[in-house]
Amino acid sequence: MADYDLVVRGGEVATGFGTARCDIGIRGGRIAALAESIADGSPVLEAGGLLVLPGGIDSHCHIEEPARGGYVGSGAGAAVTVNEESFASASTSAFAGGTTSVVCFVPQWKGEGILPRLADYEQRAARGMLDYSFHQIITDPTEEVLEREVPQIVAKGIRSLKVFLTYEPLHLSDEEYIKVLVTARRNGCLVTVHCENYAAIKWRTEALIAAGLTAPKYHAWSRPSIVEREATHRAIALAELVDQPIQVFHVSCEEAAEEIARAQARGLKVWGETCPQYLTLTADDMDRPGFDGAAFMCSPSPRTTAEHAKVWEMIRRGTLDIVTSDHCGFSMAGEQGKAASGRDAPFRDIPNGIPGLAARLPILFSEGVSKGRISLDHFVRLTATNPARLMGLAPRKGMIAVGADADLALWDPRKKVTLTNALMQHAIDYTPYEGLEVTGWPVATVRRGAVVMRDGVVQAEPGTGQFLPRGPYDMVRPRGVLANGFDAASAPG
Ligand code: URP
Ligand code: ZN
Repeated sequence: MADYDLVVRGGEVATGFGTARCDIGIRGGRIAALAESIADGSPVLEAGGLLVLPGGIDSHCHIEEPARGGYVGSGAGAAVTVNEESFASASTSAFAGGTTSVVCFVPQWKGEGILPRLADYEQRAARGMLDYSFHQIITDPTEEVLEREVPQIVAKGIRSLKVFLTYEPLHLSDEEYIKVLVTARRNGCLVTVHCENYAAIKWRTEALIAAGLTAPKYHAWSRPSIVEREATHRAIALAELVDQPIQVFHVSCEEAAEEIARAQARGLKVWGETCPQYLTLTADDMDRPGFDGAAFMCSPSPRTTAEHAKVWEMIRRGTLDIVTSDHCGFSMAGEQGKAASGRDAPFRDIPNGIPGLAARLPILFSEGVSKGRISLDHFVRLTATNPARLMGLAPRKGMIAVGADADLALWDPRKKVTLTNALMQHAIDYTPYEGLEVTGWPVATVRRGAVVMRDGVVQAEPGTGQFLPRGPYDMVRPRGVLANGFDAASAPG
């Protein structure tokens, strides 16, 4: 009699803490058995000669995010714009690249509360095939939002608040950032932070534009690593003062990573994320003729090949323990994407962000594991186990263990592929990684026991993705270490 809905047979199963050749028995969408051999007549997915990895978790993705007045950098249009990447297209792209879960962003529009946007975003996300959770962006931390609305979203299972220390009109002042930290501490949330100094970037941007230096490559000049280092330092210092755990998003350089390393050495609950663009792209990529450099424009800006080596070292040391895509795609053609303010627009008016959902795992595997920079176990931890733990999704997600969701990527570690936009299967008209050669490629993706991708063909019903509610979890518990022993966050008033 068949005991399982599916058996993944004969693969080298990578747990993040060692590998074993075993079969995986799946029942009801979950892993029900790990055994040397399961031969009971259940349907089989052959994995001989392949690695079996936990499905990737991309805990930083911008998908179908509605913006009022255009995206950051896209000028001051009045209309509401929605990312070209829908939850359905993002799901296809994610499955093509071996990713099965994402954490994406519910926007807050200044002058509004957070609940109206959440209601809209829940409906959008429910149309996809990926499993998903949300970070709640806070751009306008009014008393109503912090005291009354945040507890309501926490009750729904949203456990991370995202803040920007730069960007017009999203950035928070120090006072506002402290208020968000306090609210997160009271409600058991993680705070995730975009660390760049708003005033410094504004000052340099105005000076560059006044000097006629407006081409895409000057985006990098507007935000050298010092602005990232300063904001990282400040974000950490204020989080320490409030005694609130934070994750620093998209660390692009050693200077900023060193701030995180120092905080970790002092025992603070501070984590650092980086992305493939900070391991493969450089500021020189933005120095292409005309508008072409816009294809590589994201914030922080891509840096140098020398910096890539330093970021790898920070990954190896564990300072940076999660690699996400920061997928945020804008097409190069048309009037909705990178050219929203025209193809002659100064860099300040070009939307920030690049697509990377499908490319994340192949690039990190190839540049990391295939080139001998990190072990296979380390790769699994960076892309699945660690994001699951930090986001409060473990043990349901991020591991191959009995009881966990059966989310798997069957991986051919020897397959050589040249990245093209068609392979990304996203809604964006380019990939910044076009032509990059990778060794290692996903040949099948399984989401909660369903084979949703095989040999590049994605098959999944829209609407089958599940929301992943997050309860209280240990990683975000404050340390209880307070300046002068005074708990200002809990004081009355
Ligand atoms: O340039 C980027 N990273 N765009 C996405 C929004 C953000 O800053 O995370
Ligand atoms: Zn982002």
